Amino acid sequence: MRLEKCLNFHDFRRLAKKRLPGPIFNYIDGAADDEVTYRRNTTAFDNCDLVPNILRGVTDVDLSVTVMGQKLAMPVYCSPTALQRLFHHHGERAVAGAAAKFGTMFGVSSLGTISLEEARRISTTPQIYQFYFHKDRDLNREMMTRAKTAGVEVMMLTVDSITGGNRERDKRTGFSIPFKLNFAGITQFAIRPAWAVNYLTHEPFKLPQLDGHVDMGRGTMSISRYFTDMLDPSMSWDDVAQMVEEWDGQFCLKGVMSVEDAKRAVEIGCTGIVLSNHGGRQLDGSRTAFEQLTEVVDAIGDRIDVLMDGGVQRGSHVLKALSLGAKAVGVGRYYLFPLAAAGQAGVERALELMRTELERDMKLMGCTSIDQLSRDNLRFR
Ligand code: LAC
Repeated sequence: MRLEKCLNFHDFRRLAKKRLPGPIFNYIDGAADDEVTYRRNTTAFDNCDLVPNILRGVTDVDLSVTVMGQKLAMPVYCSPTALQRLFHHHGERAVAGAAAKFGTMFGVSSLGTISLEEARRISTTPQIYQFYFHKDRDLNREMMTRAKTAGVEVMMLTVDSITGGNRERDKRTGFSIPFKLNFAGITQFAIRPAWAVNYLTHEPFKLPQLDGHVDMGRGTMSISRYFTDMLDPSMSWDDVAQMVEEWDGQFCLKGVMSVEDAKRAVEIGCTGIVLSNHGGRQLDGSRTAFEQLTEVVDAIGDRIDVLMDGGVQRGSHVLKALSLGAKAVGVGRYYLFPLAAAGQAGVERALELMRTELERDMKLMGCTSIDQLSRDNLRFR
């Protein structure tokens, strides 16, 4: 299959599977334990139905939203994800470039493979810095200062990863960073020659956000070990309150699920929260962000911007989340598979398909702007 033939998430996923060495595909595609939460993230959208209105004059649809003070041309943004140059040699550069074309926000991870400064130069659209809270407090401080100096608009602290999720696919494949050349690795290189040539002929794998703190020269590390060894499980509300104060700008917690925590996020001065279960990759059996939206929005939606991510594959999924009060919706695998399949052209095609679906579905709903969506146009079964 070729890129032009890809019409949806599943097509991109299939194409990525053909291009990527198995361990890398399974790192993206996999989740924790039995992957129940991962699957439910998408099926949860099927528990409710949209109720359209007609005859409202829908010639021009405005998809723009303002979230945490940032104006986005569409209500979907590219969530920060790790290790992108492992998936395609252009990695984060391709994603930042595509996000710029679509006027939307994108994230660079603490585990990003280009520097947050370089990403900032590629795109003029709002940039999120996905922050992991390390045991090494000096490293945390240095990362914040760097992000501020680079002009990052939104600090996003991930709070659901203080220990590694049980990713059994990674255990079976031995997935590690940088990609390890064990026997299985060599076999994978041999059967995915195009990927292997690109990987080997472009700049060496690096984690520029963690330069000097993770020594890649000394071998490899699993994602689970990074979480468990380097991140600080003692991280508390007090630590985060201090970070919010130091950052003194748009600050968002990613991975909030309960109403109680959402309230505390407001209290410590966060300007946003992302309801998220990390794509099902951390706590399997946790509820979906979509299902948590109503109660969280009811509790604090008038005081703070509520975003969500997880399982979003269609424009109609986005419209359902926005109808419940989400201000914007993040996607991860939705752009990672296209990235792996075809670099920036792939990400652009995925965002184009999403924008087209959103426009079409808005018209079919009888809506010309996002604020016209509400719970009135949604029914749970
Ligand atoms: C993961 C991290 C790195 O889910 O976000 O693999």
